[in-house]
Amino acid sequence: MIKIAPSMLSADFARLGEQIEEISRAGADYIHVDVMDGHFVPNISFGASVMKSLNGIESAPYDVHLMIEDPDKYLEDFVTDRTEYITVHQEACPHLNRTIQHLHSCGVKAGVALNPGSPVCLLDEVLDEADMILIMSVNPGFGGQSLIPSTLRKIRKLADLREKEGYKWTLEIDGGVNLNTISDVSASGVDIFVAGSAVFKADSLGGRVKELKAAAEAER
Ligand code: DX5
Ligand code: ZN
Repeated sequence: MIKIAPSMLSADFARLGEQIEEISRAGADYIHVDVMDGHFVPNISFGASVMKSLNGIESAPYDVHLMIEDPDKYLEDFVTDRTEYITVHQEACPHLNRTIQHLHSCGVKAGVALNPGSPVCLLDEVLDEADMILIMSVNPGFGGQSLIPSTLRKIRKLADLREKEGYKWTLEIDGGVNLNTISDVSASGVDIFVAGSAVFKADSLGGRVKELKAAAEAER
């Protein structure tokens, strides 16, 4: 399963609707929605109202990535008819099991993200409950950073574990995915590829979605 999730963070917000339609029609599988609070990460992006402004626009389902402290307070805001996943950070959730239950009670799939400096073992006790594991391949906060190669080890470890133990979660990578890095990333066994600047800074947004998907598929 190879899925491309362009990150809205790098979109041109003056043309957000038309860009979302273009990439959705070109085969983007999800719209990755990067929410930053200026506390958990050193940058502020946007909130649920920007996402909801797309209500009348043709769009792929939303894959919401909350880079915020105390996410439990805000989960309901991001639940819409189009929200498939909401992902919280392990590092921001002292009661991670409770937060996953909260997400499920909202009717969405629960993702858990890990920063580059956090080891996979921090997720050991939620591997039965999570629907997605998101491995950050950059330190979260900004688009356009370079992929940290050692993070691919974590993807390989999780892909092996899933194979061995029969876990059902989806594996997602986020940060520095572009035409130069996507082959190595795909070889690591990831399912969903987030790509921000690689899509939104391209001359043809839809064309780039297709190029990325083809490059990832060529490695399988
Ligand atoms: C990083 C965000 C990413 C980011 C990816 O904090 O979570 O989703 O937008 O951007 P690129 O693909 O440009 O690295
Ligand atoms: Zn993200």
